[in-house]
Order: sequence, then structure tokens, then C-alpha cells
Amino acid sequence: MKLRRPFLHLAALSALVLTAPLTALAQAWPSKPVTLVVPFAAGGPTDVVARTLAQAMTRSLGQTVVVENRTGAGGTLAAASVARGTPDGYTFLIHHNGMATAPGLYRKLAYNPLTDFEYVGQVADVPMTLLGRKDLPASNAAELFAWIKAQGNKANLAHAGLGAVSQLCGMLLQQALGTEMTAIPFQGTAPALNALLGSQVDVLCDQTTQTLPHIRAGTVKLFGVTTRSRISSLPNVATLEEAGLKGFEVVVWHGVYAPKGTPAALVERFGGALRAALKEPTVVQRMAELGAEIVPEAKQTPEGLRSWLKPEIDKWGAAIRAAGTYAD
Ligand code: MLT
Repeated sequence: MKLRRPFLHLAALSALVLTAPLTALAQAWPSKPVTLVVPFAAGGPTDVVARTLAQAMTRSLGQTVVVENRTGAGGTLAAASVARGTPDGYTFLIHHNGMATAPGLYRKLAYNPLTDFEYVGQVADVPMTLLGRKDLPASNAAELFAWIKAQGNKANLAHAGLGAVSQLCGMLLQQALGTEMTAIPFQGTAPALNALLGSQVDVLCDQTTQTLPHIRAGTVKLFGVTTRSRISSLPNVATLEEAGLKGFEVVVWHGVYAPKGTPAALVERFGGALRAALKEPTVVQRMAELGAEIVPEAKQTPEGLRSWLKPEIDKWGAAIRAAGTYAD
């Protein structure tokens, strides 16, 4: 018992010595711009969410949070580059469901979402909308489904690459209709939406973050929303489930990651700035305009993302195996 007190002092002292450099590191950070990697094209849904956050975090961190678009292979190139990135607190990744679908789609994936990252937290959930070119000869979901079936496999479906949610939504649509469509991949849904606006493609499943203005302007045809229930930004629009596609549901969620080994103190500081940004009135307002719903605080944490990811990997893995759609 006599030994216990000096031992406790020693333990406290060594804990102090061990954490002191980390505390100093966290205090000095960020001493240069911090990169937030976006795995899809500039101007697309993920990019819009990332830039909204980056602006607010730049204000609170006193250093620029630079959004860098690293596109290709449904977000896997960006995720692989961050997994291999320097874990110094200057590189972070924002990614969506693609983080959970890649292990199913890419049997030779260059990284492991469960072991190669530090988790910062979740951000926002975004509904998707099923759109057609404005001159498509269908005026409601039932007519669209009939038209797609009548085309054989000639109706084409734009998406942002294997692993993009636009592709997964399209995959579920074809499964639900029991028909095949011709897939046209783009580097992001921003260029895919441009192709739809130019009537170069027939159908696109895309997030409200970029589709709402076009829906309101009438430059595309809207056939339904992909959520389980109707959404507040389009309250009069039926869900695809209501339109007859039983159990159809796709909601886009976003997580923020750092390379494995990034010091916990820096992950915590970046996470703190992220959570503060999600409370800022300008961010709250912008997210609402985009049709995005900021996730509850418990999900905005490392644990909130970590515990979410594994069941999502399992869920999407099963759907991908059922569809037999692989990227390699
Ligand atoms: C994007 O930002 O371009 C999209 O999130 C891509 C996608 O459909 O997943």
C-alpha cells in the first residue's frame, strides 16, 4: 500500500510526459492549409457538402481548409490515396456510402475501410431523386418504368462510376424493375447531370444537393424520391416505394476520415471544428437549401462513424452480391 502513492505519481507523470508533446502538437496545429479530399468532381453533391464545411472550418481553424477533388473509380482512388497519405493531420477525406460499398464492388480493393483510417465523424444525410431528360416520353414513374422496359437494354442511365451512389441507386432500380439499362459512367454526377440537361443520357439518380434547382426550374423530369418517406424539400413528390418499387430506399450519408496513425489530438481538433461547423447558422441554412439533413450529434463523432460503417459494408455487400455487379 505504501508503494501505491509514489507509483500513482509516477504513472501520472509519465502520462503527462506522453501527452505533453501531443498537446503541444494540437496547439500548434494547423500551421499550414489542411486538405479535405473529395473523391468526386467539383460542383457535384459531395463537393458541395465539402465546400460548405470547408468554408466554416476555415473560419474557425484560422487556416484554409482546401478542398481537393481526386476523382475516379467511384471514389476508391481518392480513398486509397488518403489511406496511404501522411498521417500528420493535414489530410482528411470526406466520402459517402462509397466507403461501405467499395469492399463489395472491388474484390481487389487497395485499402481496408475498417483498418486503414482514423474516423472523424458523420456529417449529413442526403435524399436522392430519380430524374429523366426533359424530353423523355414519360410523365410519371409508372410511364417511366414502362418506357425503360420497352427499350430493352437501350435506355441509358448515367452515373458517377462504380461505387458512386448514383450507380448503386441505378443498380437497385434495374433490380427492382427486373430489366437492364446501358450504364454511362462519368467522373462525378456534376458532369452526369450536365449530360442529362443536354439530353445526351436518359435517366440519372442523383442527390437533392444538386438536383433541386433543376427540378424547380423544370429543366429535368422528376419521377420520385429514393427515401422511405416523403422529404420536406419536395413534399408533394411520391417515393419510389409509393410508385411500386417495394422496399426501395437509398439515402446518402457522409463520413470524414484521416489516414491511419493521424495523432488522436489532431483528429479530435479537426472533429471539433467539424462539429462546430455543423452548428453554424450559415451551414445549417445551406444544408437545408441542399435538402441535406445534418446527422444527430452522436453520429458526428469517431464512434458514430465507426459503429455505422461495418453494418453498412455488410448491407451493401449483400445487395451487390445479389446484383452480381463487380468492378474488378
Ligand atoms: C458526386 O459527388 O459526384 C456524387 O456523390 C457521386 C455519386 O453519385 O456518388
